[in-house]
Amino acid sequence: MPGNANRGRSCCPDVEVPRSRAAGVDGAYDAAVTPQSAPRTLLITGASVGIGAALALEFARRGYGLALAARRVEKLEAMLPVLRAAGAANAIAIPLDVADTDAIAPAVQRAALALGRLDVVVANAGVAHVTPAGKGRLPQIRETIEVDLIGAIATIEAALPILRAQGGGQVVGITSVAGAKGLPGFGAYSASKAGLHRYLQSLRAEMRGTGIAVTELAPGYIDTDINRGLGARPFVIPVERGAAIMARMIERRVGMRWVPVWPWTVLVALLKLLPTAWVAPRQKRA
Ligand SMILES: NC(=O)c1ccc[n+]([C@@H]2O[C@H](COP(=O)([O-])OP(=O)(O)OC[C@H]3O[C@@H](n4cnc5c(N)ncnc54)[C@H](OP(=O)(O)O)[C@@H]3O)[C@@H](O)[C@H]2O)c1
Repeated sequence: MPGNANRGRSCCPDVEVPRSRAAGVDGAYDAAVTPQSAPRTLLITGASVGIGAALALEFARRGYGLALAARRVEKLEAMLPVLRAAGAANAIAIPLDVADTDAIAPAVQRAALALGRLDVVVANAGVAHVTPAGKGRLPQIRETIEVDLIGAIATIEAALPILRAQGGGQVVGITSVAGAKGLPGFGAYSASKAGLHRYLQSLRAEMRGTGIAVTELAPGYIDTDINRGLGARPFVIPVERGAAIMARMIERRVGMRWVPVWPWTVLVALLKLLPTAWVAPRQKRA
């Protein structure tokens, strides 16, 4: 309820998200941004290293209250004083394995209780195993799908009742350029990200007019552990730059964006048209 006098940390929505204004890619519409005074709050999964950790720092500098979730809780705990010193209104660590779907809803509830409310939930946790077909990699294929697809969807599913009860909020899914084209050796990863893309697309249509914004960010190559062993990382960018771009996109409540927008918006359009062998030679771990 925009403009409501009770608007605050524990009760009402402080962000109005009516219909959209600007068309993003893939028919994804951006939600409106309404300024607010209370510190905003954000839960991010996969926050122990990489994009998640860099995003946490970006949002700390913007004064958010932060809940960080991952399996390596000692890494999260080491980040807390740094985040508070950088400006975070609050920062807590929550141990969570998103492959354990029963553990997700309690973790999201814990974040909401500790922070007072949840404005943004970022389902970022991910793995990217190389899974050449027919080579006995079913355990890695299963883990990729359980973490990158089921784990991300389960995180969002756990967040939605809380956001609904507040009257609004935002969920963010991290997909990939690999979801736009099946890449050799990465069938499970490409399938997971393509599946998450479609889930988010459905969700965005379903949430229209509810006050819940649905954002999908699809990076190309951002320099993190997930891709450091790869032979080729075209147009790779530093993680700090990637996180700064993504944080701005999240705050603008975009619908769907490639990260960075240039060159990936053009490249993905080409990628979809050209034969895979031309554009995606077999990747090998170095
Ligand atoms: N970097 C890129 O170029 C790129 C490109 C496209 C998409 N993405 C996506 O961006 C997201 C972040 O990737 P990144 O590059 O930051 O990779 P990263 O540096 O390897 O970090 C992955 C994060 O996910 C967490 N994680 C993995 N499995 C988990 C599980 N079962 N439960 C909870 N957390 C788990 C890890 O924490 P713990 O190990 O401590 O649990 C870690 O914090 C992923 O979804 C990835 O697919 C990245």
